[in-house]
Amino acid sequence: MFIRHRHGWEIPEANATPEALGSGLGRRALLGAAAASILAPAAFAAATPALQSFPGPMSAPVNPLYTPGRAITPAKYVYTYNNYYEFGSEKDIWEQAQALPLKPWSITIDGLVARKQTIGLEDLLKRVTLEERLYRHRCVEAWAITIPWTGFPLNALLAIAEPLASAKYVVFHTIEDRKAMPGLREVWYPWPYTEGLTIAEAANQVAFLATGLYGKPLTAQNGGPIRLVVPWKYGFKSAKAIVHVTFSATRPVTFWEAVDGSEYGFWANVNPDVPHPRWSQARERLIGFDRTVPTQIYNGYGEWVASLYTDIKGQQLFR
Ligand code: MTE
Repeated sequence: MFIRHRHGWEIPEANATPEALGSGLGRRALLGAAAASILAPAAFAAATPALQSFPGPMSAPVNPLYTPGRAITPAKYVYTYNNYYEFGSEKDIWEQAQALPLKPWSITIDGLVARKQTIGLEDLLKRVTLEERLYRHRCVEAWAITIPWTGFPLNALLAIAEPLASAKYVVFHTIEDRKAMPGLREVWYPWPYTEGLTIAEAANQVAFLATGLYGKPLTAQNGGPIRLVVPWKYGFKSAKAIVHVTFSATRPVTFWEAVDGSEYGFWANVNPDVPHPRWSQARERLIGFDRTVPTQIYNGYGEWVASLYTDIKGQQLFR
């Protein structure tokens, strides 16, 4: 299928296996090497002031409940190795992403809610308590990073939104800025980028909305000024640059599910024992550390989230 071959995740099986990841010879390793070469400290220092983000302080106390159990990824990798298809299907979109205006920014909340509202990000930030969380992030492509996010629990947004009892899902849409985002011209993708969670998932204490990264406002390439963070699911669930949150009685068809539902489903919970149709998910490559480690079920967040799925039978929960 044509669309499948446009997909940046279409990496050959041989390059996606743990062995290839470890060998340093796979495409992913080459991408890593390319990233490293553009990440010479002087070049990165020169580039850093150009990073565009929502203005304002973004440091907050660390929530000690969530310990990542591994070293934080050096910021230079997280800033420059990104998935953001609105800007293109390669990893090096960070410079291009600086063209996205992050201010003013507002989010429209509608659907099955007590009242529809559009709320400016500055007003929203006055109504929540910011904290820092050190979270693992596991991409479906079998790479991983560990990130200090600043933000607030998604359930704080639910409280502001006041969903009706009939709402079963919360759906997130990314901005479509045709001037800044050349990827939107790729008409075979089902824009806008859409993600969704059940209300129970969204209310779970681990689900988070990030507005900061490394104690600074969230950079454009990482989903600034506000993005979803659901670390027990593959990274594609964590939609960036959210402008629309809608509540629905029916399950949405999410972006990657629409592109290829046989490979990327609605639930997308991390599980090392359920391979992607074309590669193993047993291990993950730690960006910036040049090594692989075993992947954990629910990316290690099972103690908080596994109970969400005990009553769900007969569905593909791990893809
Ligand atoms: N959100 C939007 N709007 N567009 C995207 O292409 N990519 C997803 C997710 N959110 C994506 C997105 C994927 S596949 C991953 S792994 C993470 O963003 C990457 O986040 P990062 O670039 O901050 O590491």
